[in-house]
Amino acid sequence: MIVEKGYIDEPIPAGIDLKAEILRLKKERNAVIMAHYYQRDEIQELADHIGDSLALAQLAAKEEAPVIVLCGVHFMGETAKILCPDKTVIVPDLSAGCSLADSCPADEFAAFIDAHPGHTVISYVNTTAAVKALTDIVVTSSNAQKIVDSLPADEKIIFGPDRNLGNYINSVTGRKMVLWDGACHVHEQFSVAKLVQLKKENDDAKILVHPECPKPIRLIADKVGSTQALLNFAIDSDATKFIVATESGILFKMRQLCPGKTFIPAPPEDGTCACNECNFMKLITLEKLYNSLKFMAPTIEVDRELAKRAVKPIRRMLELSK
Ligand code: 13P
Ligand code: SF4
Repeated sequence: MIVEKGYIDEPIPAGIDLKAEILRLKKERNAVIMAHYYQRDEIQELADHIGDSLALAQLAAKEEAPVIVLCGVHFMGETAKILCPDKTVIVPDLSAGCSLADSCPADEFAAFIDAHPGHTVISYVNTTAAVKALTDIVVTSSNAQKIVDSLPADEKIIFGPDRNLGNYINSVTGRKMVLWDGACHVHEQFSVAKLVQLKKENDDAKILVHPECPKPIRLIADKVGSTQALLNFAIDSDATKFIVATESGILFKMRQLCPGKTFIPAPPEDGTCACNECNFMKLITLEKLYNSLKFMAPTIEVDRELAKRAVKPIRRMLELSK
């Protein structure tokens, strides 16, 4: 099957129950569906596992099913494939990229590493396999602080590609890691002025912020943390109202797990809507998921030699996250 657009563009048979058919095909194909917290609500509803970037990597590493359908962005499917080279890994739309991963081309990152000899290279999981292959330890926003803290205090470190997460980790660990100048377009779009105004209108609300957000947004947060950490904070907190400065897909799980609590998406700089959506994450639809299971495509392929190099820093992360 030729995948011309990044996904299988076949018409959906009229009158079918799409959700029921996806579940039927999943069983037939012996597949497991994993979804990131930023996926559409209806995809999260169907998934066997929902998690942040760390959880998805951990789940892939111990998965037994021969087929993993990863409803997330390309680097997440690639990480699963690197960890499970003998499994079929499907991402229902291969054009689901990531602006943060794109902000760090492997050849430029290699030159950056060469310009800083003697440094340990830490890369965020939001990177291509080629960047991971240049890396000593991969991290996610869930474990970056713990992993950096585990290294000797005088260890020289390069951190890429997210300047905001890197800057945050420097501030909480007291390190002076050399930072790659990359960012995520979703987490950089929040407006400090609008957030302050929203807090004034909801003074009992706690502000939850992902560390991919810039420092001025982080400074007004009650909690800075990974997607999973923000969810846990909302569950455990006595507060009943939260302003959430991260991708709005997480509100689905927050509302599901915290009935009775109110979640307000933080406003972006532009426009009047409060919908902070990652356009890449939202490319995965029920129709594409259905076709991907029906045609067992598009699959993620990673060159075996490249995968052998890229798996080492991912396995190191998994080891250090225990
Ligand atoms: P986490 O899943 O680690 O919170 O990262 C957020 C993100 O932007 C994923 O692409
Ligand atoms: Fe990449 Fe940002 Fe989308 Fe996450 S939210 S996948 S970092 S573009």
